[in-house]
Amino acid sequence: MTADAPISALWPDPSPAPLDDDALTALYRRADTPQLRMNFVTSVDGAVSLDGYSAGLSGEPDKRVFRLLRMVCDALLVAAGTLRHEGYRALRLDEQRRAWRRRHGLAEYPTLVVVSNSLDLDPAQAAFADAPVRPIVLTRDGAPAAPDLAAVADLVHCGADEVDLAVGLAELRRRGLDQVLCEGGPHLFGALTAADLVDEVCLSVAPLLAGAGAGRITAGTPSAARHLPLRHVLLAGDGTLLLRHARP
Ligand SMILES: NC(=O)c1ccc[n+]([C@@H]2O[C@H](COP(=O)([O-])OP(=O)(O)OC[C@H]3O[C@@H](n4cnc5c(N)ncnc54)[C@H](OP(=O)(O)O)[C@@H]3O)[C@@H](O)[C@H]2O)c1
Repeated sequence: MTADAPISALWPDPSPAPLDDDALTALYRRADTPQLRMNFVTSVDGAVSLDGYSAGLSGEPDKRVFRLLRMVCDALLVAAGTLRHEGYRALRLDEQRRAWRRRHGLAEYPTLVVVSNSLDLDPAQAAFADAPVRPIVLTRDGAPAAPDLAAVADLVHCGADEVDLAVGLAELRRRGLDQVLCEGGPHLFGALTAADLVDEVCLSVAPLLAGAGAGRITAGTPSAARHLPLRHVLLAGDGTLLLRHARP
């Protein structure tokens, strides 16, 4: 993995030396217990997107951490809105990352898990049709029948009128998917926060002012504020800050 914009540690152990892949992987290592880790990128003024997409906020250092977080997780959780809008493709990793997973006794690929109340999902989308591992869709009991989707994904019904995220996560853990990485989007993040299910947030802050218009990285029904202590601050050569916050 090359680093055009090297990443170094600012806090708690400052060092100007560029972090290599092993050092960076150690900083984002898997937890000893089941955990839900969020990963988002934002602008300095708190935008969730630029021109409607996250890509405009994401420079090379954010992409490097994004790929690393996918490498170390068991399941990648994403809301249907983000899957549809960002046009998620099949969750594939390059040979280097697959080799890392094999060395660490993990399945060759993480499992994609989609959260949807409506089941308005396209079975032909590459995220489903070309998936190396059969994806899981967490949905509510009363969701419409979706035989074409059921042909390409496991539909897990959890919650009467809407998805019960705690039940859904418990089901993932029952299947051995302990380390869950969630890539959003904002409505799913808001619901997970409200349900007090978020253990960790990895946040890239791009050195950009997006201006008014875009939403925040969280959305939906307001809920109680929760303390989430800072664990590390990394700085990339392009000015991106890489923050990790996690529960005690
Ligand atoms: N900056 C970043 O890092 C980042 C990351 C991700 C996304 N984004 C941006 O966020 C925007 C998309 O956001 P969005 O408003 O569509 O929010 P979202 O949270 O991505 O998607 C909302 C949809 O996902 C499903 N969903 C979410 N939470 C659910 C829950 N608790 N229970 C059941 N279903 C749930 C529902 O799908 P159904 O309608 O199928 O029921 C809902 O309509 C895009 O602009 C994207 O680029 C940015």
